[in-house]
Amino acid sequence: MESVKIGLLGLGTVGSGTVNVLQRNAEEIARRAGREIQIVCASARDLTRSRNCDVDTIRLTSDPMEVVCDPDVEIIVELIGGTTLALELVLKAIEQGKHVVTANKALIALHGNEIFAKASDKGVMVAFEAAVAGGIPIIKALREGLTGNQIEWLAGIINGTGNFILTEMRDKGRAFEDVLKEAQELGYAEADPTFDVEGIDAAHKLAILASIAFGIPLQFEKVFTEGIGAIGKEDVVYAEELGYRIKHLGIARKTAEGIELRVHPTLIPEKRLIANVDGVMNAVLVNADAVGPTLYYGAGAGAEPTASAVVADIVDVVRMLTSDPENRVPHLAFQSNALSDVAVLPIDEVVTAYYLRLCVEDKPGVLAEIAQLLADQQISIEALLQKEPVDGQSVVPVIILTQRAVERELNRAIYAIEKLDTVRGSVIRIRLETLK
Ligand code: NDP
Ligand code: HSE
Repeated sequence: MESVKIGLLGLGTVGSGTVNVLQRNAEEIARRAGREIQIVCASARDLTRSRNCDVDTIRLTSDPMEVVCDPDVEIIVELIGGTTLALELVLKAIEQGKHVVTANKALIALHGNEIFAKASDKGVMVAFEAAVAGGIPIIKALREGLTGNQIEWLAGIINGTGNFILTEMRDKGRAFEDVLKEAQELGYAEADPTFDVEGIDAAHKLAILASIAFGIPLQFEKVFTEGIGAIGKEDVVYAEELGYRIKHLGIARKTAEGIELRVHPTLIPEKRLIANVDGVMNAVLVNADAVGPTLYYGAGAGAEPTASAVVADIVDVVRMLTSDPENRVPHLAFQSNALSDVAVLPIDEVVTAYYLRLCVEDKPGVLAEIAQLLADQQISIEALLQKEPVDGQSVVPVIILTQRAVERELNRAIYAIEKLDTVRGSVIRIRLETLK
């Protein structure tokens, strides 16, 4: 049987990883796919640059549209990134009846609804396993493995760069900028690393996961997002004294009122497996009604782990080439005419527990006043820790863990606490999840 011809857009970290995996494992992959898979042409911006892969048998061009329009090519693999040129190329490929594989989470989170609608009209597949959690087959697990379940919530460490930075800072005391530079050199970071640091990349991924988990359209703009910059060194230490780790989590939860979609630093009990996921590793914990909790763990970024997911998608597409479009697995797990319009909750309506850190005057009655302001908003205290005065000052750090409360009520309490004469500066708030 004739080989399946691939056109590759991008020969950077993931593009060259994909060439290497497809070449090295060609025989095994062909045995699994039922046909040989051949990259016939590829594009990159600068053709004079040396590549981390063997491109001798691949026709190279600096014009990605040439690859998309090559009549021999059946599957386009988009590994350029961004949401302008990539969107144009993907839509053109679909228009020409070509299947698409992409690792581009920004593209899917922002334009997935339009892309999938056009792909369905044309009867082509758009596969995006590599877009979430690098090499972990989490899209396949949610879309296929858990398809008999109602998914209740999921929580994941879904940005490798951010987790790598936090781990290196905590374990080795390294400076933020120094670790970020290393993450860029290792090919983990986005072209614009503020996407990693500010939580935007994790929000892209969470929008995709939630859509597949709950059968809702992609709604990136409704994800509440806080980055890793909000995590202070002292908070890491205090959290550990109380038996918690601080991780940057993406959380999607279905409640009776609507769906929570949020990305932020989170205290997690240190005994949870996910609290011990370090470095560039990612993990997604999924709680579903029939199976209960399941945890998916693996490398969240990097050339070959991501290529592993890209190649899995290519093989899936090859296996399905001859199937009727109506009988394929739907792009977002649910049939496109069965997506629900259940509301995404604003962060004010989210219910969770909190870690609060305050600087207060070291005198009688202060803690009682703070406890009263929390009680006024129906917020109960779970634990309280008062530290030694800092450098002989008259103020002391106080750490409070609250029980679960509505964010709007916590905001009211914080507002009132910050107005007390005995409280200095702002109250630091980090959300806390037990992930039971
Ligand atoms: P790189 O920057 O390493 O590679 C991008 C490639 O696209 C390069 O070959 C570049 O050419 C080419 N390119 C960029 N802009 C243009 C353009 N305007 N015209 C033509 N070619 C262009 O990115 P990555 O491989 O890291 O990421 C690719 C995609 O995969 C992104 O969507 C990213 O979010 C996603 N991803 C990345 C992961 C990772 O670990 N790096 C993990 C999971 C997903 P040239 O080499 O000549 O500059
Ligand atoms: N920059 C992303 C990360 C790449 O660090 O997780 C993988 O999506």
